[in-house]
Amino acid sequence: MKRVAVLTSGGDAPGMNAAIRSVVRCGVSKGWDMYGVRKGYAGLISGNIQQLGTRDVGGILNKGGTILGSARCEEFKTEEGRLKAIRGLSQMGIDALVVIGGNGSQTGSYLLSELGFPVVGIASTIDNDLTGTEMTIGVDTALNIALEAIDRLKVTASSHQRAFLIEVMGRKCGYIALMAGIAGGAEYILLPEVETDPEEVAESLRLAYEHGKAHAIIVVAEGAKYNAEALTNYFEKHKDRLGFKIRATILGHVQRGGDPGAFDRILASRFGNGAIEAIDRGEFGVLVGLNKGKITTTPLKDIVGGTKQISQEMVELARKLD
Ligand code: F6P
Repeated sequence: MKRVAVLTSGGDAPGMNAAIRSVVRCGVSKGWDMYGVRKGYAGLISGNIQQLGTRDVGGILNKGGTILGSARCEEFKTEEGRLKAIRGLSQMGIDALVVIGGNGSQTGSYLLSELGFPVVGIASTIDNDLTGTEMTIGVDTALNIALEAIDRLKVTASSHQRAFLIEVMGRKCGYIALMAGIAGGAEYILLPEVETDPEEVAESLRLAYEHGKAHAIIVVAEGAKYNAEALTNYFEKHKDRLGFKIRATILGHVQRGGDPGAFDRILASRFGNGAIEAIDRGEFGVLVGLNKGKITTTPLKDIVGGTKQISQEMVELARKLD
């Protein structure tokens, strides 16, 4: 019989609860004892760990956030902090740990596994910036939240013949901006990965106004050089020739707070099972992900420090559709 702990770390993502539920229930179905760690790596260091049974994870499949809580933990970034965490896990007789989280969290799980502790990562972040998986838990729901906001803003933009700048999350990766921009019919999309001249954006606004468009939508990733604030400042200086009046909306954490949609619930359930099967095979130091429709494992050492590249095909498609 094994003892396996699970934690959620970094920014929360819709579907994390579905992943916790799946890890616990798939582990219990193998006859293992399952444990939940509160508040991410901080709880690992302080020993905030409790046993979880099947009923403890009931009623959470459809809920956003994470019942275990999450945190970004500075102490865990030190080797001393990580060794303390391992000592705590060993004292409780825990054989393996499942880490549900994004890029920073999986760097943490890699460092733990380098110290010899058996860890399996589950890819979860609304940014979809992790390599080793085509989709992460949470991105589909966050994208749909951003899209709903864009659709609503388009309605009011049309009533007033305005242009809206809509800033979505994504510090290093423009996945949400690009996909929300394509699905929301944006006139322009600004990404961290693509250098954009604000003059080009201003010119496209001017042309759209001249052609009599009722509205213009510009989707901006928070990590783009010209984010909503920078672009607003630029447009302010050129407002006489833009035609449209401009308004900016920053969606921020609204995108993280939703209840997970079907895609994220199913993906999270599959990832949870994938993590338990990897542990059963004795396969550690890996990230569970989705590739070509299949649940896969990729060594954590191959994914740490990397950021998924944006699809050039999608960037070109966006240009054709604007
Ligand atoms: O990593 C997910 C994410 O939501 C990013 O898109 C965003 O830049 C960041 O987290 C915000 O972090 P915090 O919640 O700590 O402000």
